[in-house]
Amino acid sequence: MRKTEYEKARIAVLVSGGGTNLQALIDAEKAGIIKSGSICLVISNNRSAYALERAKNAGIKSAVVIAKECGGREAFEEKLIETLEAERIDMIVLAGFMSILGEKFISRFRDRIINVHPSLIPSFCGQGFYGLRVHEAALEYGVKVTGATVHYVNEIPDGGKIILQKAVAIRPTDTPETLQKRVMQQAEWKILPRACELVAKKLMKEELDKR
Ligand code: GAR
Repeated sequence: MRKTEYEKARIAVLVSGGGTNLQALIDAEKAGIIKSGSICLVISNNRSAYALERAKNAGIKSAVVIAKECGGREAFEEKLIETLEAERIDMIVLAGFMSILGEKFISRFRDRIINVHPSLIPSFCGQGFYGLRVHEAALEYGVKVTGATVHYVNEIPDGGKIILQKAVAIRPTDTPETLQKRVMQQAEWKILPRACELVAKKLMKEELDKR
């Protein structure tokens, strides 16, 4: 790991959509909640993601990498790795990134990738559970409590070690949309920055211990 003069982990955030979690990370860095890392790069796999605007407004470098344009999954992941390496990225945050990453990518950044998922894992997670679908499933099942989880990313979708979780109560009047909003506000936007700081701090400590 090479580091900035400030001894901070260089963080990349991977996004696909609105980027409210990216915004929470940007705000948390400004507020000093994230202090062991610095968001240096945003990568989107969707050219029209509003998250790209958020990156621009915050003066953060961004890139668009699209699987179809790369000519397939393998080339897509190679392009992602190349883009991350060019920016000397130490740590990756998946913040609403709607693409499952393969073995090659995961092993290149082992224990350096975290993801936010909008449920209390192991409920309503894994292949097919993303975005609004997660909240529809929770309401269909009739659970009374849901929440969000931040976890390390390994080869099993939503299967890596849990870092932080926060519960959110379901109201009888909830729709998938109202629930999604409340889970974001009460859980995701709070635990993602905190987990990001925990992991960045750990990586920087490991780096200093190596010296
Ligand atoms: C968030 O709710 C995030 O937890 C979810 O997508 C939304 C992205 O919103 N991610 C997944 O479902 C991944 N399995 P955002 O773009 O506003 O951060």
